[in-house]
Amino acid sequence: MSARPRILLTRRWTAEVEKHLAQHFDVTLNEGDVPMGAAQLRAAMSQFDAICPTVTDRIDREVMSAPDRRVRLIGNFGVGFNHIDIEVARELGISVSNTPDVLTDTTADLAILLMLMVTRRAGEGERELRGGKWTGWRPTHMMGQSLAGKTLGLIGFGRIAQSTARKARLALDMRIAYNGRRRASQAVEAEHQATFIDSVDELVATCDVISLHCPGGAATHHLISAERLRRMKPSAVLINTARGPVVDEAALVEALQARRIAGAGLDVYEAEPKVHPGLLSLDNVVLLPHLGSATQETRTDMGMRVAQNLEAFFAGRPLRDPVA
Ligand code: DGY
Repeated sequence: MSARPRILLTRRWTAEVEKHLAQHFDVTLNEGDVPMGAAQLRAAMSQFDAICPTVTDRIDREVMSAPDRRVRLIGNFGVGFNHIDIEVARELGISVSNTPDVLTDTTADLAILLMLMVTRRAGEGERELRGGKWTGWRPTHMMGQSLAGKTLGLIGFGRIAQSTARKARLALDMRIAYNGRRRASQAVEAEHQATFIDSVDELVATCDVISLHCPGGAATHHLISAERLRRMKPSAVLINTARGPVVDEAALVEALQARRIAGAGLDVYEAEPKVHPGLLSLDNVVLLPHLGSATQETRTDMGMRVAQNLEAFFAGRPLRDPVA
């Protein structure tokens, strides 16, 4: 009989990571890769030493307070952990880790991709061509907006925001402004030539591209509200690679329908995998299915980062990436 810790991966990971984990732990895979329900997750709390959930799993009090709970570590696959009730985990003495750093550039790349797709009307153009509606080149065909010299306003100024700032400034020649919970150090501001804007209201009113990089959760729920959408310039675009509920999706649909803003690029949604039907019929929005960190390399790095946390925890060493 194996004395190795029992680990549950709630979704399939890359083959490389699954193989690596199997060498160290008694691993159970969710073979069908279908999201587990609350009852299954609650049952798992009593059967495993650690569970490794992702953004599709809601780990709340009901799940964590399973009788005869055995789980001592929740090794989250992902940097965002708003789907885990951290207060309850702390209260119950369950450790929680996440996977920062390894997905920073990949997610920033996707924010840049969305900015370009929206401002250069890439989705719309591809739909026209595939739909057999392209009639040929002409000087006024599907003109978008240039980004050079425009101001990128970042909400949140952590790792992913700073990587996005670097790419936008160096590759696209954009100016950088930001709002965050705290003002960054002078050195960080100088590195990104970034201007701190003290209020979200002012940032949304003055920037050309607003890109969201704040955590999800109660504090940022509908941070981009109908009122803030009204403050944006008619030429401005909104990019969300953070968490869906940061934006009031119904209000965004109204703003896009009324052309009160020029466009939006979304990778995350309020009720994933459901997408507001109003978004689906609009041409001035680019919609991706939560692909922020989705490269082969990054998804393997994320899994290996979870593995490092599991290995540290079960060897009695401090977690590399503790969040509770
Ligand atoms: C992350 O890492 O936060 C991704 O959005 C998946 O959860």
